[in-house]
Amino acid sequence: MLRTHTCGELRIDDAEKEVTLTGWVQKQRDKGGIVYVDLRDRYGITQLIFEEGVTDPDLIEKAKSVGREFVLRASGQVVERYSKNDKIPTGDIEIRVSSLDVLNASKTPPFTIEEETDGGEDLRLQYRYLDIRREVVREKLELRHLMMQKVREYLTGDKFIEVETPYLIKSTPEGARDFVVPSRMNEGEFYALPQSPQTFKQLLMVAGLDRYYQIVKCFRDEDLRADRQPEFTQIDCEMAFVEREDVLNTFEGMTKFLYKEIKGLELGDFHRMSYHEAIEKYGSDKPDLRFGLEFVELNDLVQGKGFVVFDSSELVVGINVEGCADYSRKQLDELTDFVKKPQIGAKGLVYVKCNEDGTFKSSVDKFFDQEALQSWAAKANAKPGDLILILAGEKDQTRKALNELRLEMGERLGLRDKSKVAPLWVLDFPLLEWDEDTQRYHAMHHPFTSPNPEDIDKLDSDPGNVRANAYDLVINGVEAGGGSIRIHDRGLQSKMFEVLGFTKEEAEEQFGFLLGAFEYGAPPHGGIAFGFDRMCAMMAGEESIRDFIAFPKNNSGRDMMIDSPSRISVEQLAELGIDLNQKTKS
Ligand code: AMO
Repeated sequence: MLRTHTCGELRIDDAEKEVTLTGWVQKQRDKGGIVYVDLRDRYGITQLIFEEGVTDPDLIEKAKSVGREFVLRASGQVVERYSKNDKIPTGDIEIRVSSLDVLNASKTPPFTIEEETDGGEDLRLQYRYLDIRREVVREKLELRHLMMQKVREYLTGDKFIEVETPYLIKSTPEGARDFVVPSRMNEGEFYALPQSPQTFKQLLMVAGLDRYYQIVKCFRDEDLRADRQPEFTQIDCEMAFVEREDVLNTFEGMTKFLYKEIKGLELGDFHRMSYHEAIEKYGSDKPDLRFGLEFVELNDLVQGKGFVVFDSSELVVGINVEGCADYSRKQLDELTDFVKKPQIGAKGLVYVKCNEDGTFKSSVDKFFDQEALQSWAAKANAKPGDLILILAGEKDQTRKALNELRLEMGERLGLRDKSKVAPLWVLDFPLLEWDEDTQRYHAMHHPFTSPNPEDIDKLDSDPGNVRANAYDLVINGVEAGGGSIRIHDRGLQSKMFEVLGFTKEEAEEQFGFLLGAFEYGAPPHGGIAFGFDRMCAMMAGEESIRDFIAFPKNNSGRDMMIDSPSRISVEQLAELGIDLNQKTKS
């Protein structure tokens, strides 16, 4: 090794030791007579000192000549500092340098490599190798590493075996677009990169592996957001001979284990809620349960009283915000503007202030008297000092908008506390979702999800009301994972494809391999997949998954560092049998 110690490990007990450190220059300060250099590596920062009258003058000159991010090797003695720095673990000591090698020079970095950097996101991604030198980013990758170890420890301990499945496959129907890869050896044919290893893990159950997991890359060509990347990682799992309860218990156990091992938190039993309850109470299938603000439906109290906005609405629904009756005109206008934003789409906001003196003041005083407002307050459990916020309109749209308002109020009132963890199993999703554009049903999870056995006879007569044997784990309003008990019967799987609008031939062409496998003793099985990047971000109390991925893509799906995607040469295209002009020719 070029060093005897790292920049993070020397303490006062090491005083007088002769040591050699290597690292990057975080900062160099020339105090006239004394030059300080802060040397950084993955483990921390140690101060080097070069002092007139003590240090060789040539060395002092050398120290003066180094700039930010130069790579140094410094040898010298550990000494106690005159003025200590209690902000860093090495702050009691410094190294009185007796020899210094510049191992490499550095250009001035394009942004400061400190916790608070001046670099914008694209610039940081372009120079990601410099960004990762920042402690805040490095710590996130270290957390990711630890999470991986702990996931493996838990699952291996529970008899799961890790099996790698292929990346060059054909389309898996997880609902996004595929990334495709042309095959040179089979001209005109394409592989698809897996949106998940769904069919393979089911085949591993048919193969008798009993318990499978994989920490695996998945690829989805979809619109990106803070919690979505085109290539992301799943903890993908499958178990044979299980029912829903077994899967939920196993993975509730894994989640509790991770929080305990990594955060030292003991989570209690996870809440459970049906999809319908989640939608009715929170307007979302991934409610943030760190706070209440449950929906209160007011139709029966407010309709038929001559207020046309309410009378013409399918749903009138509100939330009771505690202690906000003193909201000013300006604050209420802000909330009205918020719900009217095009992406939220409400037409307006009705409020009722429950005054401390027991009276009410509302934005619909013209239409409703005190007695009416009193009855709404009673239904909403509102006390003097509370503020009821109400939206009205078409059912789904209004619930969606009130969900946004609920989250906004949660944010404004500081209820989305990063230190809190509120896990929730959402159960009994609908199996199918009607798609207006294509005028047919889509599988809400994927077509391999088993219908709830009680609802199978509705598959023909009332497909929209068939419940799935599916579940999502939601933590603090984020979908951490999702899975289901699968269909393992060829007949039922064929029926499912039929309901989804596949012809027999299409089903055979795309999924014949799976249907075929079901004829060779497929065991009952089920599983789940967690968004690993999301779990890491959640563990750190962050929303964006980007910094938990070493080399992520930006919002347009570009890798700014290697500048990808990029064009390929005409020769390469020809070899693949791809003619980019084909469209214009035909
Ligand atoms: P699903 O599609 O719900 O299920 O994905 C599982 C989990 O993966 C995470 N996730 C993502 N994370 C980052 N970027 C993305 N683009 C992205 N898309 C999904 C989410 C999600 O809960 N095969 C099924 C699982 C199963 O049935 O076992 C599947 O892939 O956290």
